[in-house]
Amino acid sequence: MQRHTCLAIALLVCSLPSFCQLTLRHLQTENLANPLCIDSKSPRFSWQLQSPDRNEMQTAYEIRVSSRPDGKDRVWTSGKVDSAASVHVEYSGPELQSGKRYFWQVRVWDNKGRVSPWSEHAWWQMGLLRPQDWKARWIRPADTAGDAANPLLRTRFTVSRPIASATVYITAHGLYEATLNGQRVGDTYLTPGWTSYNKRLQYQAYEISGLLHNGPNAIGAMLGNGWYRGVIGFTNNRNVYGHDVSLLLQLVIRYKDGRSDTIATGPDWRSSTGEVRTAEIYNGERIDHRLAKSGWSLPEYDDSHWAIVQTEDFPLNNLLATINEPIRKHETFPALRLITTPKGEQVIDFGQNLVGWVVVRLKGHPADSILLSHAEVLDKAGNFYTDNLRAAKAEDTYIPGGQGNSDTEVFEPHFTFHGFRYVRVEGWKGPVDISDFTAVALYSDMPKTGSFTSSDPLINQLQHNIQWGQQGNFLDVPTDCPQRDERLGWTGDAQVFSRTAAFNRGVENFFAKWLKDVAADQLPSGAVPFVIPNIIGNGTSAGWADVATIIPWNVYLAYGDERVLRDQYPSMKAWVEYMRGQAKDDLWNTGFHFGDWLFYRPFDDNDGRSAVTDKYLIAQCFYAHSTQLLINAADVLGKKDDIAAYSALLGKIKTAFLREYVTPSGRLVSGTQTAYTLALEFDMLPETLRNQAVDRLVKNIQDYNYHLTTGFLGTPYLCHVLSDFGYISVAYRLLMQDTYPSWLYPVKMGATTIWERWDGVKPDSTFQTPGMNSFNHYAYGAIGDWMYRVIAGLDTYAADPGYHHSRIDPHPGGGLTEAGADLQTGYGLLSSHWRIAADTLCMDLVIPANTSSSVYIPAPDGGLITESNHPLATVHEITVENVGRGFVVARLGSGEYHFRISR
Ligand code: BGC
Repeated sequence: MQRHTCLAIALLVCSLPSFCQLTLRHLQTENLANPLCIDSKSPRFSWQLQSPDRNEMQTAYEIRVSSRPDGKDRVWTSGKVDSAASVHVEYSGPELQSGKRYFWQVRVWDNKGRVSPWSEHAWWQMGLLRPQDWKARWIRPADTAGDAANPLLRTRFTVSRPIASATVYITAHGLYEATLNGQRVGDTYLTPGWTSYNKRLQYQAYEISGLLHNGPNAIGAMLGNGWYRGVIGFTNNRNVYGHDVSLLLQLVIRYKDGRSDTIATGPDWRSSTGEVRTAEIYNGERIDHRLAKSGWSLPEYDDSHWAIVQTEDFPLNNLLATINEPIRKHETFPALRLITTPKGEQVIDFGQNLVGWVVVRLKGHPADSILLSHAEVLDKAGNFYTDNLRAAKAEDTYIPGGQGNSDTEVFEPHFTFHGFRYVRVEGWKGPVDISDFTAVALYSDMPKTGSFTSSDPLINQLQHNIQWGQQGNFLDVPTDCPQRDERLGWTGDAQVFSRTAAFNRGVENFFAKWLKDVAADQLPSGAVPFVIPNIIGNGTSAGWADVATIIPWNVYLAYGDERVLRDQYPSMKAWVEYMRGQAKDDLWNTGFHFGDWLFYRPFDDNDGRSAVTDKYLIAQCFYAHSTQLLINAADVLGKKDDIAAYSALLGKIKTAFLREYVTPSGRLVSGTQTAYTLALEFDMLPETLRNQAVDRLVKNIQDYNYHLTTGFLGTPYLCHVLSDFGYISVAYRLLMQDTYPSWLYPVKMGATTIWERWDGVKPDSTFQTPGMNSFNHYAYGAIGDWMYRVIAGLDTYAADPGYHHSRIDPHPGGGLTEAGADLQTGYGLLSSHWRIAADTLCMDLVIPANTSSSVYIPAPDGGLITESNHPLATVHEITVENVGRGFVVARLGSGEYHFRISR
């Protein structure tokens, strides 16, 4: 510690322990609150401790599981287990039964000798575990040839006894929207989502007892082409997974008298067509109210003229319970303003580039048909611009059925989505009333977990854009972009953004599900295709395929989820083995690679300012990085032989790197920011060469007048390398840079999401080449991770992941007077905010119960650190772990802390 620094720490202790409450909340099974379909044989439980005390730690827990809500009919009890574990605690009782609901509760003991009351009951329900549990048969409408109309399918049934519960399990080839007695089933969209359908097809479960009537009932579904057989991929393929849409549905009604009924798709169902005439993900939807079959899912509807469906014997062994959060509706945006463009177009501006659709209310009979076109931007002249959508039409057509009557008709698509901020309205007779138009955002219902704020409005807008990039592109799979004829699960984009994503939202289940498709679509050679689900062929590339190691590791770090490592380990290893197989003398310098995609390159590059990084240098860096992550995973999973074998391999990979790409004086063959960043971040250089490599990186940044030049692969790590090696002020200068290329340039140009290119809109307001110019592409939003981890300073340790032991190490700087982040971890709120007032730095921290933190407190020479938050506070010594480099590192237990550091 600096000589004159005086440390006076006031810690709040509960002066009257008997009044302190220890309670449990936020009970989850497989990270979901009371989930309806779980097919894991050993579901995992999580809970959070709540206590006003500081230094609250769990020392033991007891879980009990029963098959009745009153806790009777005990199925399993864990007994008292001495353990601090409160997330991902596995069920290990007797075999769980298909379709059955289980209730559980937990109590804990703490480090103060207290025991909590038993928690409230939470529950989960098992899915249909075996193919023979499906009584339903696949049915397809009598006529599904072509993509003419979106079929309706229905059946009728009778309920004659009081109901205890009713669960319907549904999936489809294509997309489905189910209806029971005229009411929509559930609030999820674009179901069953997108997986590698032929190998893994998810079904959803809904509790629908509230929709059933005593007496006659009717259930039905409308089907859409979706990803299954609609146009998908930039090659505009159709029928990627099959030619016909079909439905599988099973409704299980349990009666209060203990009996049950199963209503299932089969040969007694009937089909017809309705008002949705075409629906395509890229091209939009056409709804014709004149063709609506009003009341088609009511029991009294006469379906005698409908066709009898065909049954199909498709395999049932690819069916899986849904583990990720489904797509739901989220924010709604009223129309901000109506623009008449120079071309005379009527365009509505919703103020935010979002993903979803527009709900329109038509009053009277304003037109024969209304055409809505969607766009992200207006061009330089202010006209509606859709060239960057490429072949995606992104048009919805609404045809009213009112024929002149004055009823209000509401239009809303079912089986498409658009990436847009602007909507052009055509066909409307008379003046457009913008209050009739509402944009709705749709995305996977990942819980919002993180927020980052600062004193700088441009940085706050950047954070907003990063969040909306995620909200627009996490639509059951992580897509590259949501608007053009692509919208695919590009692996590179997902891996570079994954750590940022895990701050903003709870993405554990989202990624766990998608990673299973990564493994499912991985080739026998171990190569990982460019996009997952794979619909475009078998190419592979460094930095993209490394998704197989990087995302499992990031999910492990963020959530402490060991299961994801266990499940993905074979896939991680296969990818490293693929690279080993490609390498000669430990050097991987063959094959196609995307390289540092979209790096900086000026148009008329006469003196060679383009930041081109050798693709094989990049490949060697990722070969090493993936091998390191495999070693890390092997370490967590206790695979000693693999640790030894891959550590030896890693040594050879790095030696080969030095031999091939580093000159004797330490210069890399590519002198780019990305080359030095990757070499330093992935630890490719011996210690003797590191400092000069950092100096070369900084010199390069200065040569570009503090602009970044990195593409997809260098960008996520650039600021981390600078701050790790003592150049935080250079990292801040890059972040605060607002001329091209930089993170804030698009913000200054009015972006509301992250752009695909650093200069999607050029300084003269013209556009980059339309073939590849998405305005909603999250990859460059990967800087979010640095903002959370370095500016606000919230991080976790691989040795105790999921923020069970966190690191709070904020870095004031960049001219900011305040910044901070809140993060809902598996244990509760972790928070770090700092602000500078005159010569005092204040740090406000929250550390959740059952966790601890290593807190880095700047300790200026002659400064004073004080901490207080309560009049009853008692002064205590805190455990000072380490002192040096101007920091006091204090190990703190849970609680709120307010530090003042005077300089
Ligand atoms: C996508 C990317 C992707 C890339 C491959 C593009 O078309 O939009 O984001 O990673 O192809 O380099």
